[in-house]
Order: sequence, then C-alpha cells, then structure tokens
Amino acid sequence: MNIVILAAGQGKRMKSALPKVLQPLAGKPLLEHVLETAISLTKAAQPVVVIGHGAQYVNAFLSDLANRNPRFKAIKTVLQKEQKGTGHALLQTLTKLNKDLPTLVLYGDVPLTTKDTLQSLIRLADGVRAKQSALGLLTQNMENPKGYGRIVRDQDGAVSAIVEEKDASPSIKAIHEINTGIMVLPSESLSKWLKSLKTKNAQGEYYLTDVIAMAVRDGVPIRTSQAKNEYEILGVNSRDQLAALERQIQRQRAAALLESGVTLFDPERIDIRGELSCGQDVWIDVGCVFEGRVHLAAGVRIGPYCVLKDTQIATNTQVGAFTHIDGAQIGAEARVGPYARIRPGTILANEVHIGNFVEVKNTKISAQSKANHLAYVGDSIVGARVNIGAGTITCNYDGVNKHQTIIEDDVFIGSDTQLVAPVKVGKGATLGAGTTLTKDAPAGKLTVSRAKQVSLDWQRPIKIKPKSSKVKK
Ligand code: UD1
Ligand code: MG
Repeated sequence: MNIVILAAGQGKRMKSALPKVLQPLAGKPLLEHVLETAISLTKAAQPVVVIGHGAQYVNAFLSDLANRNPRFKAIKTVLQKEQKGTGHALLQTLTKLNKDLPTLVLYGDVPLTTKDTLQSLIRLADGVRAKQSALGLLTQNMENPKGYGRIVRDQDGAVSAIVEEKDASPSIKAIHEINTGIMVLPSESLSKWLKSLKTKNAQGEYYLTDVIAMAVRDGVPIRTSQAKNEYEILGVNSRDQLAALERQIQRQRAAALLESGVTLFDPERIDIRGELSCGQDVWIDVGCVFEGRVHLAAGVRIGPYCVLKDTQIATNTQVGAFTHIDGAQIGAEARVGPYARIRPGTILANEVHIGNFVEVKNTKISAQSKANHLAYVGDSIVGARVNIGAGTITCNYDGVNKHQTIIEDDVFIGSDTQLVAPVKVGKGATLGAGTTLTKDAPAGKLTVSRAKQVSLDWQRPIKIKPKSSKVKK
C-alpha cells in the first residue's frame, strides 16, 4: 500500500515560527504521531510526506527521527513549493506511488487516528493489494460540522460528492456528516483524476475532495466508515485545538495507568510525554511530568510536582515533592527529595537518601549513603554508608576540565566541606566541618583544614548619634 501524509501547510492560526506539523503533542511532533501509526500499518510501509512550509525544519526532524529509529529511514519526502491545495499536494507524489497498490492519504496535523480505524478503512476499500480497489472514505457525524467538507449522498444513500464549507449552500451546510480527509484510493484512477482537477472554487485551490465526484462518474464504488472516537479525526489548526488534543491523550494515558493498578491522586493532573511503565501499587501524586522512558517498580511513590525523565526507579523508593530526576537509575528503598535534583549519569544504589536542595550529577553512590541537605555531588564515586554533610560541594570543574572525586566506604564528611577534584577520601575517613580538601585524605583518619579557633577581647563599634537635631532628614 502507498501511504501519503500531507504536511506542507503553514498552519497560520498557530501563530508560530515552528511549522504546524512539528508542534509537540504529548512530547513529540504531531507528524511523529502520524508517522508512527503509518509505519505500524504494514511492514513494508514507505510513507511519502509532502512538505512545503518550513521544509528545512521538517527535513531536519525527519533525519533526526531516522537516526533515532531505523524503521523511519524508509520515509520519503516530496516538496510542494507552493501550497495550492490538497489535490495539488497529492499530485506531487504521483511518481513515488506504486500504481498497482491503493493509496492511503493521511494528514500531518491529524495525530490521533488509530491503527484499527485505518485498517478497517483499508479493508473496506478492498484490501491492501487490489489494483482496482474501491474508494474508502473516513467520515464522521459531527454535532458541529463547521469548517469541514460535507459528505453529499444521493437518494439511495450513496456518496455523490464532497462540498467544502466555503462552497456550500445552506442546505449542504446543514449536513452533519463530514470529510475527515483520510481516504484510500485506487492509485491508477487517482493519478488520472488529480491531473484533471480544476481550481474553480471559493478558495481557488486544487481540492482533493473533487476526486469523489470523478469516482462516482467512473463507477468506482465509494465506501465509508467512521472512527470509534471523534478525537481520532480531529485536526490541529489552532493552539486551542492542540491543547484539547493534549488533554485527550493525557486523559487516555491516565485511564490506562489506573486500569493497570497505579494510584493517581488526580488523573486530570498528570502529564506523560513519553512512556511510563509501572509495577504494582505505584502511587503518583498530582502535577507530575514524565518524559522519555520512565519505569517505576512496584511500591514506588512519587510526591507532588516532580519531573522525571529517562529514569528507572526500583521497588519501594519514595520521591519527595518538587524533585527533578533526569537520566538516572535509582535503587530500591531509596529516598530522594523533596526538592532534589538528580542529573544524567547518576546511579543510586539501594537505600540511598538524597534530601532537599541536593544536586547529584554523573555520580555513582553505593548502598545506604546519605546526602540529606544542600550539597552538590558531581563526577564522583561514592562508597557505601557514606554521610555527606550539609553544604558539601565537590569542586569538579577547574574552569576548563571536569575532575573526579572518589569517596570510599564509611566516610563521614562534615558540613560545608569542599572537595577540590581530583581528590580521594580513603575508607572510613572523617573530614572535619569546613574543610577545603585539596589533597587525598587517608583512610581511617580525621582530616581537617581549618584556621585555629581563637577568642579575643573585642569591643563592637557603636553607632555615633548626630549632635544637632537641625540636621535635615
Ligand atoms: C480539508 C478537506 C476537507 C476536510 C478537512 C478535514 C480538501 C479540499 N478539504 O480541508 O474536506 O473536511 O480537510 O480536516 O481537501 N496541505 C498540503 N498542501 C496544500 C494544502 C494542504 O500539504 O497545498 C495539507 C495541510 O498541511 C494539512 C492538510 O493538507 O495537513 C489539510 O489541509 P487544510 O488546508 O487544513 O484543509 P482543510 O481546509 O482543513
Ligand atoms: Mg485543516
């Protein structure tokens, strides 16, 4: 089967410098949603994307997509220099289509059509291979059909034409069955029809929808089907519609999590902009955002307003409110947050505690170690049962290069200590509060760098009051 995705339009109503099809929905561009569905339809799918407005950005996105997933390498693009209508857009792809197979037309700005809906449309149009397939049209009965092309049927109920809103008489405007734009067409006839399209209409465009009347004339059977849910056929023309679809997709994801046994304190207040998988009895409080791939094992509890990205968390770990975790692996029975920031390359073992205002980056921390308050631990290897006091900083950056800090098992680091990397603290060592460690600290000893404490007789200065009250204020 040929698959064409029309994506050359500007999307004026978005009022954006970004082409419409690259606007993000649930964390990925609208076009990516459509492409994912397209390639899921058949193994051999080589979708042809018609690009035009912002073509360089769309091309850059497509090559990035192909790098991320080789399955998308098969995508071809065709440039439509001027956007002269949907029929004109499809005309540009003719040389890329196999005339012996039917052509499925999708829209880059209609992101949530399901595979099931498309497959039944394809079946309806006589299967995947038929050279002379019927014409399959995905229609929808809408309470408010304004703006859409209307499906006109004859007395027997057979489709006779599609009329655009701007060309419609009041009686046609009263029709509630609309053209979703998604259709399956016999390619040989399509090629002939597209070449004979005219622009005699209110918008002066080549309408793809005009091929319907041509199909009727040529005796090609037209069959219609409808999607199960209205959101499947909704397009994005404005920020308002984009926001509505975002809620739709988030609601579906929340419902799936609830169904799988996850506790969501409010299913209306969760955003999953990637893939979230959860074990048994996971609790997620309100306002959390999940990006990339996140896995929460059984018994994990996430406090309110956390942002988690590309992270795995093992069983029974608790994440406190307002915590950010990105690119980390966190062990079982650990505690992170509230107000912690865990950055890429962090591996925390079981029962590690990371408290408020602690930042950890590119660091491995072994079991039962703690940094409970106000610390920065970067580019480090921290052993087991280490205690990192409040205000401790690993000075990992000399202005040019990053250096490593090694802290061995059972170390105790007093508050407000700076570890100037590269530096190593031996097993069981203690660092006195306020130490600036510039040389390795030996195992088992107390190391402290601190000016000796002195007590002196001392008189605080006294503020001298002005003598005269005439002094102007
Ligand atoms: C189109 C249909 C209308 C249908 C509606 C469904 C036509 C003439 N009308 O109208 O019957 O109810 O979709 O949403 O087909 N595009 C190009 N090149 C162009 C013009 C458009 O690639 O020259 C792409 C757009 O990027 C978009 C899609 O085609 O993805 C639809 O174009 P749009 O202008 O939104 O068509 P509508 O007027 O909404
Ligand atoms: Mg549209």
